[in-house]
Amino acid sequence: MHHALHSPRRSASVVLALVLAATVAAALAVGASARASRSNHRSKSRSHSVQKVVHGAGGLSITSQPWGTVPAHPPLNQALPASLYTLSNAHQMTVKITNYGGVVQSIWVPDRRGHVKDVALGFPDLQGYVTDFTNPPAGGSGDTYFGAIIGRYANRIANGKFALDAVYTLPQNNGPNTLHGGPDAYNTQVWNATPSAGPHSVSLKLTYTDPDGYNGFPGQVSNVVTYTLTQDNALHIDYSATTTKSTVINLTNHTYFNLAGEGSGDVFGQLLQINADSFTPTNANLIPTGQIVPVAGTPFDFRTLKPIGRDIHSAGAPEGNQLVLAHGFDHNWVLNGSGMKLAAVAEDPSSGRVLSTYTTEPGVQFYSGNFLVGDLVGPSGNTYRQSDGFTLETQHYPDSPNESTFPTTRLDPGQTFTSSTIYKFATAGGGHGHGH
Ligand code: BGC
Repeated sequence: MHHALHSPRRSASVVLALVLAATVAAALAVGASARASRSNHRSKSRSHSVQKVVHGAGGLSITSQPWGTVPAHPPLNQALPASLYTLSNAHQMTVKITNYGGVVQSIWVPDRRGHVKDVALGFPDLQGYVTDFTNPPAGGSGDTYFGAIIGRYANRIANGKFALDAVYTLPQNNGPNTLHGGPDAYNTQVWNATPSAGPHSVSLKLTYTDPDGYNGFPGQVSNVVTYTLTQDNALHIDYSATTTKSTVINLTNHTYFNLAGEGSGDVFGQLLQINADSFTPTNANLIPTGQIVPVAGTPFDFRTLKPIGRDIHSAGAPEGNQLVLAHGFDHNWVLNGSGMKLAAVAEDPSSGRVLSTYTTEPGVQFYSGNFLVGDLVGPSGNTYRQSDGFTLETQHYPDSPNESTFPTTRLDPGQTFTSSTIYKFATAGGGHGHGH
């Protein structure tokens, strides 16, 4: 190996392969005994900036690697390096997360036969995210928010205005609305990251301080988002936030799922159940009308598992033109129950992959990837077209700051906002129930 590395006739790809091999060797050494680590000192020092490993018990690990540089943009206006973290357990699940926007870049899970695929839409490299999140080409899919942490206010605030003790005006980045915290919001920030390993899980703790007044929101907000991969193939996302002035907060994760694998086509045949008896219909700007309407007898009835595509083309009564306005499903469901509860179950009948979503939040935005138009290419090398993925964004209802009947999104100094969501994967085999 050393010989080849020093050969003057090596090709670039051979060098890359060898450096990768050296990296893996070094990474293994870091987690092994001190003696092994010392004997690998040379290769370790050559590649120490390439990969760092924290090993947990029983096959758990979290590694990090440099992932490029995020160009300067508000509010810090400073170019910063980003990393990609790989969380793995002993049951074939791997989640890759970058501290750029806290983006979940990929989620690898087995099907009922043990075949592992990436079920999260995304990009192969940092540049893909930076372009999509900050400068998406006109006429394309626009900002997809693939996999990202969304804040300070996930979803829409009507006309970029809300009142607390005073009236606040926000930048309008979605027609007349403020969407997902406005431009250069949480999904574009480089978060501070701390990996750790416990006996039954590995975690990545991310922190970001959102300045007072940034994007028009009052109060400096200190955010902590912790991703945890457990041995039972669950990805936990725990959010907390405090503020220096009264403000509004709504945090979510914007992963698009395709349980047959990203880039494998549309999700119309995948089954979905949402634990909700009602939803919040919207106006043409996708702002809730304020009504809470029963799903019974409408295409919004996902109370039992049904194919996502079964009713998605429905244009008329009794639910009005909701699916026309949103180009499909892009609505908030009012979840049944309180505390940590089941929000949704999704299942791909062909692979048997099952995703159960649990949350402490009162709502979930089920969005059927309506605005994907085939211009974005995922890690698979395939394009993403309309409905090639779906999101289950656990959150408070859209435009809550302007709807006094919705659960409040107000956060005052001295309070701590907390929220937890679990995306748990399993497989269902030939109608024999769920397990893994
Ligand atoms: C919104 C969609 C939007 C998508 C990507 C979702 O959370 O509900 O309307 O197109 O994010 O921006």
